[in-house]
Amino acid sequence: MAKFVIKGGNQLNGKVKISGAKNSALKIMAASIMATGTTILKNVPAIDDVLTMAEVLNILGAEVNFNTAQNEIKINCNDIKAFEAPYELVRKMRASILVAGPLLSRFGEVKIAIPGGCNIGSRQIDLHLKGFELMGAENRLEHGYVYSRAISNSAKGLKRKLKGSEINLEFPSRGATENIMMAACLSSGKTIINNAAKEPEINDLANFLNKAGAKISGIGTDSLIIEGVEELKGCEYEIMPDSIETGTFIVAGALCGKKVEINDAIWDNMGIFCQKLKSMGVNLENKADKTIIVKKSKTALKPAYISTLPFPGFPTDLQPIVTVLLCTIPGISVVTENVFENRFMYADELNRMGANIKIDGHHAVITGVSKLSGAPVSATDLRAGAALVLAGLIADGTTEIYEIHHILRGYENFDKKLRNLGADIIKVS
Ligand code: UD1
Repeated sequence: MAKFVIKGGNQLNGKVKISGAKNSALKIMAASIMATGTTILKNVPAIDDVLTMAEVLNILGAEVNFNTAQNEIKINCNDIKAFEAPYELVRKMRASILVAGPLLSRFGEVKIAIPGGCNIGSRQIDLHLKGFELMGAENRLEHGYVYSRAISNSAKGLKRKLKGSEINLEFPSRGATENIMMAACLSSGKTIINNAAKEPEINDLANFLNKAGAKISGIGTDSLIIEGVEELKGCEYEIMPDSIETGTFIVAGALCGKKVEINDAIWDNMGIFCQKLKSMGVNLENKADKTIIVKKSKTALKPAYISTLPFPGFPTDLQPIVTVLLCTIPGISVVTENVFENRFMYADELNRMGANIKIDGHHAVITGVSKLSGAPVSATDLRAGAALVLAGLIADGTTEIYEIHHILRGYENFDKKLRNLGADIIKVS
């Protein structure tokens, strides 16, 4: 089983280029289902989740060619014949459910496995399904799958089609915003999504859809307006840089950097993240040409109170990562997780490395320690895995990270990029 082996203590110095955003690429790949002709996506990260989405599209009948060396993917969905996202792929990657909106919009029907085995009443995809329902779909739960079908117009000889509607999301869920926005593209009439999620990756998806011929306005606000159109056409589009990878390298620089220059890093896409780190004393500079520089701070860093919230709040995906930094700062910090209930699984692993983190419900109380010590640890999920890698960079001795398949889902060449900055990290198969 592959693992990362890290010898801690090296200082990071040099430049690193951020890859394309996972959470934008996956959704735009799903959106290409609605386009006729070929969609060409550039700056697509060569990561396992993208390969899984390619597999999902293949199963549906799409032709997908991924040139990983060029980070370019070509997708042709002209011959899609299946409408089903199967359990084995949804189980592997929850974002597979993002094919539901595009399939429903184009064909008027879809069958998707319910992620995580939860039922329809659970919080997992209820907002997606409620949105589809308000647009005229009937949702039926059977054998762990949801069948969603637009109400038939067949009496008039027309295909099944969703109709525009006004949808007020109870919570600005990213997935629900994306799925509903995509479902609305080929529907009849106007859809308004209120309390929509505003993450930059959602803007990227909306910009792609508009380039393909959709009519979406209100991009970047909490009210998205989508006028249904008859057709989307394949186009060429460049995926935005990954803001979570950017945040990961910023924290790596803050932990053990001399001077780390992060290229293709967009400050404004980070919400309050950079501002928060600056208030802790992290030496961060936003330069022109999408460059962020992290330098070793001249003064000691300060502990902090951090609460995760949807954009532009502190991103939940960077919560495990910033926690590693807080572990090293003398004093008491508190991290409150407001987006996911159970996102502190990694705390026990960090504690095995000498951290002092106490979990109380959705709060983590972190007492800074003077050093972490290398240990064998296991990645519990993608971002938790990245957090353990960062901990390994500063820990005394050797850290072995198991279950790195989680990390490979979302970080392109993570070990190589860190090695180029001076870290002693190798991947052992
Ligand atoms: C996306 C990101 C993930 C990130 C998360 C929050 C992708 C592939 N993943 O996940 O990395 O951590 O946003 O920024 O883009 N919820 C419901 N009902 C629903 C949908 C969501 O209750 O129908 C709840 C979820 O259980 C969770 C919260 O809303 O507690 C946020 O979920 P959501 O914003 O939908 O996250 P994802 O799109 O799944």
